[in-house]
Amino acid sequence: MGSVLIQGGRIVTADSDFVGDVFIVGESVAALGKDLAKSLPAAAAADRVIDARNKLVLPGGIDPHTHLDMPFGGTTSADDFESGTIAAAFGGTTTLIDFAIQSKGESTLKGLETWHKKAFSKATIDYAFHMIVTDMPDERLSEMERLATEGVTSYKLFMAYPGVLYVDDATLYRAFRQAGENGTRICMHAENGIVIDEIIKGAIKDGKTAPIYHALTRPTRMEAEGVHRAIAIAECAQVPLYIVHLSSHDALEEVKRARGRGVDVCAETCPQYLLLDQSYYELPDFEGAKYVMTPALREKWNQDSLWRGLKFNDLSSVATDHCPFCFKGQKELGKDDFRKIPNGAPGVENRFSLIYSAGVVGKKISVQRFVEITSTNAARTFGLWPKKGTIAPGSDADIVVFDPERKERISIHNKATHHMRVDYNTFEGVEVTGFTEIVLSRGRVVVDKGNLALQGGGHFVKRARAGELLR
Ligand code: URP
Ligand code: ZN
Ligand code: ZN
Repeated sequence: MGSVLIQGGRIVTADSDFVGDVFIVGESVAALGKDLAKSLPAAAAADRVIDARNKLVLPGGIDPHTHLDMPFGGTTSADDFESGTIAAAFGGTTTLIDFAIQSKGESTLKGLETWHKKAFSKATIDYAFHMIVTDMPDERLSEMERLATEGVTSYKLFMAYPGVLYVDDATLYRAFRQAGENGTRICMHAENGIVIDEIIKGAIKDGKTAPIYHALTRPTRMEAEGVHRAIAIAECAQVPLYIVHLSSHDALEEVKRARGRGVDVCAETCPQYLLLDQSYYELPDFEGAKYVMTPALREKWNQDSLWRGLKFNDLSSVATDHCPFCFKGQKELGKDDFRKIPNGAPGVENRFSLIYSAGVVGKKISVQRFVEITSTNAARTFGLWPKKGTIAPGSDADIVVFDPERKERISIHNKATHHMRVDYNTFEGVEVTGFTEIVLSRGRVVVDKGNLALQGGGHFVKRARAGELLR
């Protein structure tokens, strides 16, 4: 069993912050403390010593929202489990929760099997699955318990994308109630897709086909309505609820109101909603298509609300919703009609630097809050705690050595910032302060100062149910 001693770094977790050492034996953290080489002979004889002076030593990132190798919008997302997990690792993420999909009319268990095949032996970091439920008749409800015993303890349902992933309120209620009975969690894409489709029909009739109309046909009020309805149904069904990719002030107000009256609801936002805005859709030469994602980018003023939500815990996590489609050949499918632009954008690699830079360096959140929203809260919400999301004796040695001073300019042309298999970067040209240098996944150094030190070896993680610990 190999051992690693990380020496002299500032070790920050959700509940501690001190300068010291981390000693790793095999896949787990064995000890934490000051000058471990003096007190622990095994640490003094570690196979590898990493000098972390002037660096942050952080729990590996957990990205609870990615779409790797996902068929969508008439094409397939450009990163698979090989390229997507490597890019994630370069950015400091050591666990992904990706979305397996149930094909309509088929078993959710078959969907899970398909996603296991996509990921098996390809991943470099650990991964888990949510299940996207596209129908749930009474006779299939028992599958939800089977999924939970397979470690899939959360389900995503869609109020958006009518005719594709959309489910009606009756299906929502049935699935919510069953998930509640099983002690599992619902993830909700909350937008009123039925009304939005009517608005879109009107726009197309008026000849409005450019990317900007993707945003102008999806009012924030329709996101807020979806959030409000999901919360009401979850309350009746008694299930914990997690709103995915929350993008607007209006939607956040619904979450705050519900939390204020004691509803078990939390929400994530994404770097694109914190840092980019609706004006990107008006870039020339169809470049606005790069930002066509759902929900759409919003007017800039929404960003202040989202940052406040993160600071005061109405938003508990920052996920990426990484769903990359190349500009050439994929986004171009919608050249004459924004409805045909595949929805989604890349981001799995840049989350740590973007949020550290804008959040911590920008004095919006503390370093500890950064750890919570990029790792610990996702671990707690999705049954990965305390194996993941912290640095503590017995936890998986998923650790990032992070240089808080290093500056980089994110770009498709800057190799250090872009390993994703997609021909553009959503955050092209953004200057960041703070960069991932060394990444350990279960004790294995996978990224070492800009180099991929090890490929493969990522495991599927069976998650615990809501509120239970992963042992
Ligand atoms: O545009 C997006 N977000 N694409 C991925 C699917 C989803 O709704 O999360
Ligand atoms: Zn979604
Ligand atoms: Zn998504």
